[in-house]
Amino acid sequence: MKEQLTRFSVSVEQDLLDHFDQLIATKGYTNRSEAIRDLMREYLATNSPRRDETPAVGTLTLVYDHHVRELADKLMDLQHAYHEHIISTLHVHLDHSLCMEVIVLRGRLTEIEEIAGKMTSTRGVKRGKLLTYFQP
Ligand code: NI
Repeated sequence: MKEQLTRFSVSVEQDLLDHFDQLIATKGYTNRSEAIRDLMREYLATNSPRRDETPAVGTLTLVYDHHVRELADKLMDLQHAYHEHIISTLHVHLDHSLCMEVIVLRGRLTEIEEIAGKMTSTRGVKRGKLLTYFQP
């Protein structure tokens, strides 16, 4: 379904616009409108008042050292505890000690964020980044 587009104008300082244009060019945007739309979607996704009950999906990417004591076990225990919300997991052995895991989640937005928070904050996890999607 092709949605109707609405035009609107925005007043902004030239300096701010120049910096914005430079940055979005490096991100691969070929026009300002798509960059603004993405910003609006991101803002709505982050600030929607319906966050609590909204059904959502997400991916959590973790990078961790599996040599850290009990870390792999703790992460596995969490995944089993939330098996109803975890659809799939991809595990990549990056080198002798580092692992990358991509965990696909489904549930209410707040549940997904809670699970992601528990995993990311587990001691030994070097990086944890959650991306969620839902209809605002
Ligand atoms: Ni591994």
